Amino acid sequence: MAELLKIKDLQVHFFTDYGVVKAVDGIDLTLQEGEALGILGESGCGKSMTALAVMGLVPFPGRITGGEIIFAGRDLCRLTEKEMRRIRGKEIAMIFQDPLTTLNPVLKVGEQITEAIRLHHEEGDLSPASGRRGFFRFWEDRRRREMAAWKKAVEMMEKVGIPSPELRMEEYPHQFSGGMRQRAMIAIALSCNPRLLIADELTTALDVTIQAQILDLMRRIKEDFRTSILFISHDLGAISELCDRAAVMYAGKIVETGSVQEITGAPFHPYTQGILASIPRLGEKEYRIKPIPGNVPDLGDLPAGCSFFPRCPYGQAKCKTELPPLEEAGEGRQVRCFYWRQIRAQREEEGGIGGELSFAGD
Ligand SMILES: Nc1ncnc2c1ncn2[C@@H]1O[C@H](COP(=O)(O)OP(=O)(O)OP(=O)(O)O)[C@@H](O)[C@H]1O
Ligand code: SF4
Ligand SMILES: [Mg+2]
Repeated sequence: MAELLKIKDLQVHFFTDYGVVKAVDGIDLTLQEGEALGILGESGCGKSMTALAVMGLVPFPGRITGGEIIFAGRDLCRLTEKEMRRIRGKEIAMIFQDPLTTLNPVLKVGEQITEAIRLHHEEGDLSPASGRRGFFRFWEDRRRREMAAWKKAVEMMEKVGIPSPELRMEEYPHQFSGGMRQRAMIAIALSCNPRLLIADELTTALDVTIQAQILDLMRRIKEDFRTSILFISHDLGAISELCDRAAVMYAGKIVETGSVQEITGAPFHPYTQGILASIPRLGEKEYRIKPIPGNVPDLGDLPAGCSFFPRCPYGQAKCKTELPPLEEAGEGRQVRCFYWRQIRAQREEEGGIGGELSFAGD
């Protein structure tokens, strides 16, 4: 598999009246062609800002202050806004959590999908020229292009599972249910046949059944179109349904990466273990939900040392003052914790996740 996206030491900082907020603080990520990578983490840990940095859309007063975002061999951080606009929507598309903020409420859904198709296809690409001459040719070509875009929009709606697409083309966003609106957004995003699709909390606001349907749709997109997907969520269940690999973020940094099986089956980092322990597990006599105590630290005033220290059941004196590096912990596996080997050994002895955690550090 070829590498499509490589993020190197990315920094996104917000310059506020209260100081510098390190929303993304030195992130490294790779995404292969056709792969789905999940980014997992609690609210405020920098997931959306990572995605917006890739899109070149970090909002004011934030900006990319360091690092590289290599997409298909080009560093996106070095492109002009005009060059970036050509990549956005055409090679990289993003779907947001709330379709109502993205869909235009006063335009029919069909018009919006058609517009996206027209915008991202070259002139002759939708329908070949009519062969007529002069004024007639202009109108004829225009009519043919519009019809071709309309037809393609109906096809896209069908592909994303919107029933009776011809009829629904004529409806407005408010006439669509939440799940159907997400599908319409996905159709718009796919209309340019992007190489990378970024989905930010795509399924969060949906109920469980619709969530499963949308995840199923995303899986089909990955398989049929071979689109690479960056799937951002604070729901490990959704990530494990769709993704091949996952990166866990905490306070602007990656703390663990690995295959979805490794992250859900045998996490090494205490934070990932905490996330897992906080998920109710079906099939057990009783739900064992153990929320991680404490809160995500203020990104404008990060503690020295490991940012998970105030909440970590394993924390040692060293963790308070020194920043643990992101260490290789196996093939495609990384972890940012001084004591991951000891924690892994203890876990293996205990035979799973849960229970009280303690061990002697150095
Ligand atoms: N306009 C802003 N001004 C100052 N800081 C900001 C601003 N927008 C975001 N941040 C900082 O960036 C951090 C990361 O925000 P981001 O939106 O990436 O979090 P997230 O992981 O996507 O959270 P959520 O799960 O809630 O969407 C926030 O915790 C906040 O400290
Ligand atoms: S470095 Fe220390 S505080 Fe940080 S996660 Fe590991 S044990 Fe916990
Ligand atoms: Mg977010």
